[in-house]
Amino acid sequence: MEQYAIKGGSALVGEVEIAGAKNAALGILAASIMTDETVVIENLPDVSDTNIMLQAMESIGVIVKHIDRHTVQINARNIHTEVVDGDYIRRIRASYYLIGALLGKYKNAEVKLPGGCNIGTRPIDQHLKGFKALGAKDAGINGGMIVAHADELKGTHIFLDMVTVGATINLMLASVMADGMTIIENAAKEPHVVDVANFLNCMGANVKGAGTDVIRIKGVERLHGTEYGIIPDQIEAGTFMFAAAVTKGDITVKNVIPKHLESISAKLLEIGCEIEESDDAVRVVASKKLEHTHVKTLPYPGFPTDMQPQITVALGLAEGTSIVTESIFENRFKYVDELSRMGANIKVEGSTAIIEGVQKYSGASITAPDLRAGAALVLAALAAEGYTLVDDIKYIERGYEDFDEKLRGLGAMIDKVDGEKDIQKFKLRVG
Ligand code: EPZ
Repeated sequence: MEQYAIKGGSALVGEVEIAGAKNAALGILAASIMTDETVVIENLPDVSDTNIMLQAMESIGVIVKHIDRHTVQINARNIHTEVVDGDYIRRIRASYYLIGALLGKYKNAEVKLPGGCNIGTRPIDQHLKGFKALGAKDAGINGGMIVAHADELKGTHIFLDMVTVGATINLMLASVMADGMTIIENAAKEPHVVDVANFLNCMGANVKGAGTDVIRIKGVERLHGTEYGIIPDQIEAGTFMFAAAVTKGDITVKNVIPKHLESISAKLLEIGCEIEESDDAVRVVASKKLEHTHVKTLPYPGFPTDMQPQITVALGLAEGTSIVTESIFENRFKYVDELSRMGANIKVEGSTAIIEGVQKYSGASITAPDLRAGAALVLAALAAEGYTLVDDIKYIERGYEDFDEKLRGLGAMIDKVDGEKDIQKFKLRVG
């Protein structure tokens, strides 16, 4: 089983190119099957989540042609079933976007219940409530499948009980070709929600208000082909920004939209880093000891839950006591046990972590419990004294393209290893 071998202690310095946004890509790939014409998607990240999504699309007859590593051409004219039940589909969360897309296009969909990171109970009641309101009266879970069928889809008024990215995107997909106007209130405002809406509009949809609390979708008869470039990944960028903070480094993240990174930049400033912004890059310089702070995860434009483990790792090395409150997912502090094995002093009480900063972390054998926590533990290892071995890196590879290679480009001592021989080779290489 592959692991990361890491020798910590060096400052990461240099520039890193950020890939396309995974969570936008997943919504956009699903949306691309809603037309029979050809769609070209650029800046697609080459990560396992998007590759599984493409596999799921191919399994129902979608033709996927890879033009280059980050560009795919998609044609969904020959979809032969509205049932997506391959076992691999359980490995990703966003497979549920195929429900919205198939229901919106064919008024019928059956998709195996999604998997994804184990960070909470992750119900889908809001998705189902919206599908029902649009006309899929029987929408529900049956025999391990999410099922939705409608004789006709009619525009409607949906008030989401909480801000949810998944339900907002899914309901946009299900309603773009419904009859009349759909209004989604209390909609999620994340950049990837806006990106999916922009993509749908490029296909001929009429979606207004994405990026605000209220999205208005006027149903159109059909969607057409288009070419579209996915936005940069806010969370990948944020992760590298925190890599600078924890290693006392100097990293410029390139190909980003600085506006999407504001809540992350603000916290880095607060804990003592310097930030320089240009049109499509952000530079983070960490030359001083980090300072403590308080942070609560919130829907966009608040501090993202997907950056919570990374900031906790940084605050674990800061002067004084910090408090991190997780308000989106109830089970997102599982990595704290692993971090404690590296010397962190963190107490978790319910949805709050109380962090007493320590002078340093020390290398250990640890396991990545999920995607973002896995990446955060790699940051801890890069800051730590000595060697760390990270298990279950498959989680990290779900959402970070060439993570180890990009880190090596910044001077990190990290290798992907498979077995004792590789580990010895790594130790010989890095000394
Ligand atoms: C998306 O998950 C992302 N995944 C997550 O990224 C991200 O953490 C999350 O949004 C929040 O930003 C994808 O885009 C594939 P939600 P999603 O619906 O859509 C509750 C990563 O690391 N809720 O916004 O599943 C839910 O339990 C991943 O890239 C309901 O109660 O999240 C949570 O508490 C991890 N009922 C809150 O809403 C519902 O029907 C927000 O969830 C839907 C959600």
